[in-house]
Amino acid sequence: MKHILEKLEERRARARAGGGQARIEAQHKRGKLTARERLELLMDKGSFEEFDMFVEHRSADFGMEKSRIPGDGVVTGWGTVNGRTVFAFAKDFTVFGGSLSEAHAQKIVKIQDMAMKARAPVIGLFDAGGARIQEGVAALGGYGEVFKRNVIASGVIPQISVIMGPCAGGDVYSPAMTDFVFMVRETSYMFVTGPDVVKTVTNEVVTAEELGGAAVHTTKSGIADGSYDNDVECLLQMRRLLDFLPANNEAGVPEWPSHDDIEQEEKSLDTLVPDNPNKPYDIKELVLKVADEGDFFELQEAFAKNVVTGFGRIAGRTVGFVANQPMVLAGVLDIDASRKAARFVRFCDAFGIPIVTFVDVPGFLPGTNQEYGALIAHGAKLLFAYSQATVPLVTVITRKAFGGAYDVMASKHIGGDVNYAWPTAQIAVMGAKGAVEIIFRADIGDTKKIAARTKEYEDRFLSPFVAAERGYIDDVIMPRSTRSRVAKALAMLRGKRLELPPRKHDNLPL
Ligand code: HXC
Repeated sequence: MKHILEKLEERRARARAGGGQARIEAQHKRGKLTARERLELLMDKGSFEEFDMFVEHRSADFGMEKSRIPGDGVVTGWGTVNGRTVFAFAKDFTVFGGSLSEAHAQKIVKIQDMAMKARAPVIGLFDAGGARIQEGVAALGGYGEVFKRNVIASGVIPQISVIMGPCAGGDVYSPAMTDFVFMVRETSYMFVTGPDVVKTVTNEVVTAEELGGAAVHTTKSGIADGSYDNDVECLLQMRRLLDFLPANNEAGVPEWPSHDDIEQEEKSLDTLVPDNPNKPYDIKELVLKVADEGDFFELQEAFAKNVVTGFGRIAGRTVGFVANQPMVLAGVLDIDASRKAARFVRFCDAFGIPIVTFVDVPGFLPGTNQEYGALIAHGAKLLFAYSQATVPLVTVITRKAFGGAYDVMASKHIGGDVNYAWPTAQIAVMGAKGAVEIIFRADIGDTKKIAARTKEYEDRFLSPFVAAERGYIDDVIMPRSTRSRVAKALAMLRGKRLELPPRKHDNLPL
């Protein structure tokens, strides 16, 4: 009996050794942790339960029958994060470069299926060389099985991808279909085809970092939702993110104890909006002062900074914040901002997370760049996402809400449940200068007349009261009371039920 038990321990030890000490050391030298070290950090201490550590590939081509390593390049299982169940797979770069074989894919698929049965999030840690070249089509088939499950699980359980090393070829499409992608700076990159293929096909010479490093995907492509300095910081932040997310689309948002009084007034907000309407201010100050304990998990912080998106809590319950940022391009909505906010709104709606929207938007960005780039379609995504949302929508207009952007930003007309405005709000078709130049064109050149017309327009339209008179705004509130007014609105909306007509699916302007 003792012998049998020892044999188990021996086999476990062999599996845990992955690709061997030399490769583990090489991994560490590059500033990367191993797959198992990463899972240990991600999960609550001692909670990780591993599956399939004895699985080996079945390939016999190119001498592969002579090299089989238990686990086959991916560590899979489940554990808890602050007590809540999470499924995970972590590519093990020390085993065949973490490349995906048929057996490796089956391990991931098992986790995906199990997570769907248990209705709990899946988090994938990527650090791999793509398809197992020696396996050919069997590896491609394996990817397809993973992709299909990513799609079936979308909107049912949260799916998070963390890129912690190479991520190329077949490995990029699974992350692309998950809800969030995070990267580690300097050690990770992500592209469909690498620098060598790029050089052959297009003659461009680029490094892996220039082609798909964290800087590229957090600022240019918007593929990644955030990046961190190292594995440890990244995994700790993933734990923080998971604390905000519901386990699935029916579980409701998690509720954590909060010691931050919702009745507390924040007097400094009364002077947040400057007297000069063209002067910027930082909308994040409002987000931080409304969220419990100022705890805000921002997404896509470095991409389309003219809109701010992320998770916070109000009275201990998760909300999604969407806010125009007057500090960047005056908070205008452009292609990138519309895409960013639309995707976030759809995530929140899919998972029952109420959305709090802060509006200070001068409109959509004019120009050929934007129009040729299909601003109409991208702006429509945001309009579509808000219009379709059935979760509680609480909106506060702090200053400008001009033109179509007024409608788009969770206005009453497209489904806003509770819409407030600060006394500094200006809700109109456009700003005074543009409006007067159009409707009083004949007076242009007569500075006195134009000044009088502008004043008349400002007095009549650049306030929250025209909208409030029509009931488009439910109340004009004191800025200092924003947290408590929003909290009360959310509490009132807790049981909100709204059914859309049955259909196969909508036709979002992709
Ligand atoms: C099998 C692989 C592998 C792969 C790496 N290895 N990638 N084995 N299949 N795809 C092995 C190496 O042979 C090596 O084994 C070990 O992993 C580490 O790789 P190195 O090259 O020594 O490491 P490094 O210099 O850090 O380079 C990492 C790398 C490089 C950039 C990822 O390995 C690489 O370019 N790999 C190939 C990437 C690729 O073209 N993949 C196929 C994509 S096509 P030893 O035994 O020496 O340690 C694809 C199509 C799917 O994925 C499409 C589906 C839709």
